[in-house]
Amino acid sequence: MSCAHPHNTPPGSQVWLTPPHVLAALGPFDLDPCAAPEPRPWPTATHHFVEAPGEDGDGLAREWFGRVFLNPPYARSVIGNWMAKMAAHGRGGGRGIALVFARTDTAWFQRDVFGGADAALFLEGRLYFHHPDGRRARANAGAASVLAAYGRNDADLLACCGLAGRFAPITLPRFVPALLRRRTWREAVSEWMALQDGPATIEALYRALAGTATARRNRHARAKIRQTLQRGPFERLGRGLWRLEGTPCS
Ligand SMILES: C[S@@+](CC[C@H](N)C(=O)[O-])C[C@H]1O[C@@H](n2cnc3c(N)ncnc32)[C@H](O)[C@@H]1O
Repeated sequence: MSCAHPHNTPPGSQVWLTPPHVLAALGPFDLDPCAAPEPRPWPTATHHFVEAPGEDGDGLAREWFGRVFLNPPYARSVIGNWMAKMAAHGRGGGRGIALVFARTDTAWFQRDVFGGADAALFLEGRLYFHHPDGRRARANAGAASVLAAYGRNDADLLACCGLAGRFAPITLPRFVPALLRRRTWREAVSEWMALQDGPATIEALYRALAGTATARRNRHARAKIRQTLQRGPFERLGRGLWRLEGTPCS
């Protein structure tokens, strides 16, 4: 693998892995259409398409499904095609999140993020991507990164994922007005839990609510969250794992 800086990467399929803390804040995902070849140090989704000779080895040509995580090959010659497919996936009722450089001046960014996504989170600082064996790169990515959400649920999740940066709605997500509104703890926890596809960890809940008006007003936000969960309507499924009563267990 080339040691080229991701931002200045030459054409070709460079393998730069998404930092695990980003995946932990945003996942789980159904599909990574351009996953690192095996063995990979951690999964990015339940299903991985990997590059290989033949049509079946082209994640761009195959049909995408479910909640997609896309950290596409960076080469100028191909990134627009991947982003166009992500935007089309969103328009077709699919959902997901793309991690790309914040190259707001490019044609693909204008068309497929500003013109195709529901929201963006411009990350604070620069990410450190990882090598295929899991080692963190010594240098940061060399440029700012942005997460683009496709589908309103993903926009809502991005708004409260807890990653540091500036959230920018592109279409108006449902959860954003709620973020700004003063809510009771029960409302804040219930609304976020209702957006999850299944049970959620208490750590994810801490992160999600950290930026809300409700949590910012209270120095003991974590204790309030624990107390709120105990009082219901929530059910503890295991250590640190909770669900909203009446929602699926898995
Ligand atoms: C920036 S890396 C991201 C890896 C992984 N998605 C992640 O986020 O950790 C880009 C990946 O795209 C893969 N790739 C490039 N062209 C591809 C293609 N046509 N089909 C599937 N994967 C491809 C490369 O093997 C590489 O792992």
